[in-house]
Amino acid sequence: MRTPLLCFLHSLLVILYVAPASAYSEAETSWPETVRFDTGGLSRESFPKGFVFGTATSAYQVEGMAKKDGRGPSIWDVFVTIPGTIANNATADVAVDQYHRYKQDVDIMAKLNFDAYRFSISWSRIFPDGVGKVNWKGVAYYNRLIDYLLAKGITPYANLYHYDLPEALEKKYMGLLSYKVVKDYADFADFCFKTFGDRVKNWMTFNEPRVVAALGYDDGFFAPGRCSKLVGNCTAGNSATEPYIAAHNLILSHAAAVQRYREKYQAKQKGKIGILLDFVWYEPLTRSKADNLAAQRARDFHVGWFLHPIVYGEYPKTMQYIVGKRLPKFSKAEVMMVKGSMDFVGINQYTTYYMYDPHQPKPKLTRYQMDWNAGFAYNRKGVPIGPKIHEEVYKLAHMQAYSYWLYDVPWGMYKVLTYIKEHYGNPTVILSENGMDDPGNVTLPKGLHDTKRINFYKDYLTQLKKAVDEGANVVGYFAWSLLDNFEWRLGYTSRFGMVYVDYKTLNRYPKMSAYWFKQLLSGKKH
Ligand code: GAL
Repeated sequence: MRTPLLCFLHSLLVILYVAPASAYSEAETSWPETVRFDTGGLSRESFPKGFVFGTATSAYQVEGMAKKDGRGPSIWDVFVTIPGTIANNATADVAVDQYHRYKQDVDIMAKLNFDAYRFSISWSRIFPDGVGKVNWKGVAYYNRLIDYLLAKGITPYANLYHYDLPEALEKKYMGLLSYKVVKDYADFADFCFKTFGDRVKNWMTFNEPRVVAALGYDDGFFAPGRCSKLVGNCTAGNSATEPYIAAHNLILSHAAAVQRYREKYQAKQKGKIGILLDFVWYEPLTRSKADNLAAQRARDFHVGWFLHPIVYGEYPKTMQYIVGKRLPKFSKAEVMMVKGSMDFVGINQYTTYYMYDPHQPKPKLTRYQMDWNAGFAYNRKGVPIGPKIHEEVYKLAHMQAYSYWLYDVPWGMYKVLTYIKEHYGNPTVILSENGMDDPGNVTLPKGLHDTKRINFYKDYLTQLKKAVDEGANVVGYFAWSLLDNFEWRLGYTSRFGMVYVDYKTLNRYPKMSAYWFKQLLSGKKH
């Protein structure tokens, strides 16, 4: 237990050692050797042999060059142009310009002792129209990135889809709502395996398909911004059916890509392929049976929606029962393709909520979120579930109406990993995202003093280790994110990075948490 006095002294010590920002050269990653961080006893030795530590980003959030070098638009390029959608009406046209600064970013990763980098490949940078003509400049970019990663000893983990469907396919056949996307996606994936698979041995098909389906088609908060009239301010959509159709096509697309990889490439290239799922831990608010069932429904509608078909070949029974005819069915042949379609599962874990049974008769409004028939709570008997990380951020983004989602609840990490172990046959898991943000307006040098982030990482990693020590088959951990970047609806008003980006100059400044990782990972790989 650290007393408040100790915490205060620690912060003071840390502040005393931080030089003014002007003292840093760009990408400078040295730090007074005298500073030793508290890693909570964690080191490489605390984790199993070969455990991989990396950082994660996604194409649209970091690359920039959104309209250049032949890239076609994705649904996010269109979405961000709707006035009032993104905080300060920002776009990711430039983002943090990783397209040009990738060498510098990879150098930073290497200096911080990371083993791996999880990035995503922008579909519309490779196929500007989603299909057909290849943009070779885009291919060349990913070749440069991959080659440089390997040259610096960083293992590439390539994700093929991070919210960014080519707009051409949205226009052509309504994107994920059409079964046609399955073949087009598999073709794109096939091209990537063929082109980059000699060097990329770790593939991920989709990031957070649940977010894609729920935020894209239930509440319209993310692109393509579709929802029912009574749900939100969308121009079109059907929140009762479309989330389920989109999710179904996402699962089939994932499975079709895995099939291609396994049939055509895996034996020769010797890589692995998986999917990335977000998983909030849902803890029953009380010990009542009703609240326990509500929490279970929440887990089924969240991670079970995708993991159940992939592991067991069908949607969770709770979903089949509640959603009924609105839930698409897998044909026998599709079950064969979907079941077992992963070598590992990536889990993005940030936060935890209490769930309770609202004891309501059937909700009037039929939509995905209402199908859960479960209420969210953030306090138990007046005690908050954990400190709320970033209320300020939403105020900054003029979105006070939104209750912000990130509560600092490290024990949720343990519960999530234990749940996956127990309910899904202890699959190989990569903890593929974890992190927290600071408000976007924090300036230098204050923005570098991220002691809160250090504690966040330390506490969550401690819980991850506990799950691993008890047998959860977790083989890697990726922090979100390497550097501050375009945070979707929040634009640049939220900073998730362990490296600070000055948005005027795009210079990079590693924060204290980056040095914390450097120390954590300083031991010999074993
Ligand atoms: C994840 C998402 C990332 C990043 C992060 C922080 O859900 O995959 O793109 O934005 O959340 O909000």
